[in-house]
Amino acid sequence: MVTPVQFTFEETNIDEIATFAGRVAVFVTPEGKLDPAARRVNRLTKGAIARLVEDEPKAGDARVLAYPIGMAAEAVDVLCLERNADVPTVRKAGAELAKKRGNKNLLMCVGNANKAAEMVFGLALRDYSFDVHKTSEVKEDARQVTVMATKPDEVAEAAAPLLAVAEGAFFTRDLVNEPANVLTTTNFAERLVAMQDLGLEVEVLEEDKLAELGMGALLSVGQGSDSPSKVVVMKWMGGEEGSAPLALVGKGVVFDTGGISLKPAAGMEDMTMDMGGAGVVAGTMRALALRKAKANVVGLVGLVENMPSGNATRPGDVVTSMKGDTIEVINTDAEGRLVLCDVMHYAQETFKPSAMIDLATLTGAVIIGLGHENAGVFSNDDTLCNSFLRAASQEGEGAWRLPLGKAYADQLKSRIADVKNVGGRAAGSITAAEFLHRFVQDETPWMHLDIAGVAHVAGGTDFAPKGATGWGVAALNRLVSNRFEVTDGK
Ligand code: BES
Ligand code: MN
Ligand code: ZN
Repeated sequence: MVTPVQFTFEETNIDEIATFAGRVAVFVTPEGKLDPAARRVNRLTKGAIARLVEDEPKAGDARVLAYPIGMAAEAVDVLCLERNADVPTVRKAGAELAKKRGNKNLLMCVGNANKAAEMVFGLALRDYSFDVHKTSEVKEDARQVTVMATKPDEVAEAAAPLLAVAEGAFFTRDLVNEPANVLTTTNFAERLVAMQDLGLEVEVLEEDKLAELGMGALLSVGQGSDSPSKVVVMKWMGGEEGSAPLALVGKGVVFDTGGISLKPAAGMEDMTMDMGGAGVVAGTMRALALRKAKANVVGLVGLVENMPSGNATRPGDVVTSMKGDTIEVINTDAEGRLVLCDVMHYAQETFKPSAMIDLATLTGAVIIGLGHENAGVFSNDDTLCNSFLRAASQEGEGAWRLPLGKAYADQLKSRIADVKNVGGRAAGSITAAEFLHRFVQDETPWMHLDIAGVAHVAGGTDFAPKGATGWGVAALNRLVSNRFEVTDGK
């Protein structure tokens, strides 16, 4: 879809700095220390870098030397980084370079392999654009970044798993950015089936099978649309044979009109992102496959379109979930939970997972509560939840836990069925989580991530341009490597 940036890793050749005809990036410290490449540029430009650092740059500052004399480069980016800068700061410096370079080739001269790899990761993440529908855009293949290091193989090796995560996040972003007339349920499923080439096992359950399984809740959401509802199961069994997998479950509403409880027109176009949970599940599975993770992980997504029509579910209808619980549909716009409850039940019945995490752009209320900085986190298991919160903070992805509780669950009592699908205005994100909680089997450690605020950010973030962010791929990948991966004694 996108042409991700291409990295080449080369042994340091100080002479190339003078002749490189793109942008050159070098690093200085807040104390004014220049690394060898910066010293080289300084000499070539007759002291331009030394003059730049005279006014004491602060860590994180990025300066530009435009058309430096004595060099073929168009510009030199001078980044100020502390020697012991932490991972998020180093990634941000990389992202800064991505923003600055536009479509120019870049030569970056780096030191320490791990730090260099993190910088490469930050650069890669920010160097994304979704321009497949812009006919005027020149599709250049000149998106080359040359990473120069004394031990280029070490940098390449350290960067490889991170670039797998970036590619997973791009896959998520492409899915989330794609409009709903292109990304139909069928098209979505096809893109997932194509991941078989990476060694994933992918199975598509069609409507007749879903009906046979009794997924009346999920099917009630999609029945107003001409696009068929589907559940796609992706398996990555890189861990110990026979050990229970981690299950990731995603809401994949390819477009959410609200159904008969129709949404207002203003802003409805954003509901192309209502498959964000499924997008993160797919991107994470891709990253795990690309880096050949030593873990058993199954990803399940419920793909439906929520449309009003003569055949659509009405407010007041009662539907029966696969679990057997009857659900009174008060509002057809609270559809995500109806999709998830059946896929979650199926995931537990089929895989007996060691833990289950669901992701969904579930409620507008979570945006009111947490904005675009943090996803809402809900869990019945402190260990799982704390591991995730740690992984998310290591990756710089915002996540904040909110409570569950019987009083919230009681808001979902229905007069005529076992449960209703909305619990009123108060604590909308929590009652949505409590609805899902009902479908979690007692022994399953479970976590629900409400990503409505973080999956798509109109103004962009440090690591993503306007639109889809890919939030969660890095954190889930990290959770897998921290907690679910076989360590083989390392
Ligand atoms: N897909 C929406 C939630 C959403 C809102 C995601 C804004 C991203 C941005 C969800 O299906 C929905 O419509 N939720 C309703 C629930 C209500 C009817 C109980 C909401 O949040 O208004
Ligand atoms: Mn809705
Ligand atoms: Zn929705």
